[in-house]
Amino acid sequence: MKVSVSFLSSKNIPKDLKILNDTDVDLIHVDVMDGKFVKNKTMPFREMRHVSDYTDKRLDVHLMVEDPSKYIPLYAELNCEVIYIHVEIDEDIMKDLDMIKKYSIKCGLAINPDTKVSELVPYLPYLDYILVMSVYPGMGGQSFITSASDKIKEIKDLIKSYNVKCLVNVDGGVNNDTIKYCRDCDIVTSGSYITNSSNFQEKISSLR
Ligand code: DX5
Ligand code: ZN
Repeated sequence: MKVSVSFLSSKNIPKDLKILNDTDVDLIHVDVMDGKFVKNKTMPFREMRHVSDYTDKRLDVHLMVEDPSKYIPLYAELNCEVIYIHVEIDEDIMKDLDMIKKYSIKCGLAINPDTKVSELVPYLPYLDYILVMSVYPGMGGQSFITSASDKIKEIKDLIKSYNVKCLVNVDGGVNNDTIKYCRDCDIVTSGSYITNSSNFQEKISSLR
């Protein structure tokens, strides 16, 4: 199992990113919130860009924003493996996915707990990743919504039936207990379980 770590709940981001850089974590998960698509707002790009000063791990950027077309060109400057936008936004999703691909970055769609899996279908042939939200987006430290487990299975079946290549990541409330609901995933994203602990590597290993 691949593991991505979110530093959203970190109390000392530079320090935690440096520690993570010395672990075997696969990706660093960058949560971006605009105060519109979700209530909270994260730091502006001019501060967020420094993530790459502290780690040379690849990033998976999760844009919880109404208008990703404004954010994609900025984040594309960083060491991104994938950029996720949300399927629930009003912007032209195909245009945004195309924009991500033009920067030679993999593209992904994130899906909220109350959104039907069928919403993903029109985009399936274009997607490299799907991010299944197992909490309502907006903050770290929430409890894993167990119905995400069925959703992951449903999405895996959909990927198979459409014969497309797309990896599945799950985000929110992942820890050594809720990992049992994520076994069908290719990647798991975990935040507070790792960054609130005193041994990041031990916690990362417990999810593999
Ligand atoms: C929620 C974020 C998640 C979150 C994960 O809005 O997208 O990435 O930070 O953190 P935990 O593991 O604490 O739920
Ligand atoms: Zn996230």
